[in-house]
Amino acid sequence: MAITWCRPGLLHGKRALVTGGGTGICRGIALALAGAGADVGIASRREEHLAPTVRDLQALGVAAVAVAGDVRVPADVDRIIAHTADAFGGLDILVNGAAGNFVAPAAVLSPNGFGTVVDIDLKGTFNVSRAAFPLLKVRGGVILNISATLQLLGTAGQAHAAAAKAGVDSLTRTLAVEWGPSQIRVNGLAPGPVDGTEGVRRLTTPEMRTAIDAACPLGRMAAIDDVASVALFLCSDAAAFVTGVTLVVDGGLWLHSARTLGADVAGG
Ligand code: COA
Repeated sequence: MAITWCRPGLLHGKRALVTGGGTGICRGIALALAGAGADVGIASRREEHLAPTVRDLQALGVAAVAVAGDVRVPADVDRIIAHTADAFGGLDILVNGAAGNFVAPAAVLSPNGFGTVVDIDLKGTFNVSRAAFPLLKVRGGVILNISATLQLLGTAGQAHAAAAKAGVDSLTRTLAVEWGPSQIRVNGLAPGPVDGTEGVRRLTTPEMRTAIDAACPLGRMAAIDDVASVALFLCSDAAAFVTGVTLVVDGGLWLHSARTLGADVAGG
């Protein structure tokens, strides 16, 4: 699906940074923000993930920059923020999307494996938000933290990522309260499995894919634009009085449970 509801120039004059914006969901979000008229910076550890997306952003007629860096490293974070703000003359929108994940049962997951994912997802979100705060408060701004649905139930093999994302959801609420008086809205977006992403390629088998389509109340796995559309809403003035929420965007998948009643009993 394409994003059809956005009026032209919705984000004209806004300056955005999307960490993890070179690939996957966050590339889709970066393109959606640029399609609405925002200048967009993207950051990722890998330079080769960034160049093709920057070209696609520029093709939409906005200014776009790419900065290679690791959200775990404070000096990299400072460089990412400074480079983006210098290029655009400030910063209004921050999307914290940089994340890492793999499947590993807790009993065999090393302390460093657990800590690595917490460092990228949770501490990275804090590091970048904290560094962006002085710029975002100049005109008031928006932070959007990309969360997940893993932490809403007990997801086997995801102790590290679920704990990290639960922390991200908590951070969303705290920063919304602390930074609301500076006119900075802080929200989260929690996608389920999204078609065409590295996460789905790595974490799901074809059988799981079929099961997800069958279990989702809306009957299919999310497309990247399903998620990017909601990100655009939360980053725009359409959500001007929304802060501190984490919006699940998974077609109702996480709510579905056949533990006690089958679909036939439930009338599905
Ligand atoms: N299973 C178990 N442990 C794993 C693992 C796996 N599949 N992958 C990494 N780890 C552990 C490593 O063993 C290491 O712990 P150790 O030192 O005790 O052995 C620790 O995690 C750090 O791994 P390393 O590869 O050195 O970290 P990194 O910073 O280079 O990369 C990730 C970490 C999470 C980004 C990496 O696993 C990765 O590249 N993942 C795929 C890309 C991705 O996550 N995309 C997003 C999908 S949602």
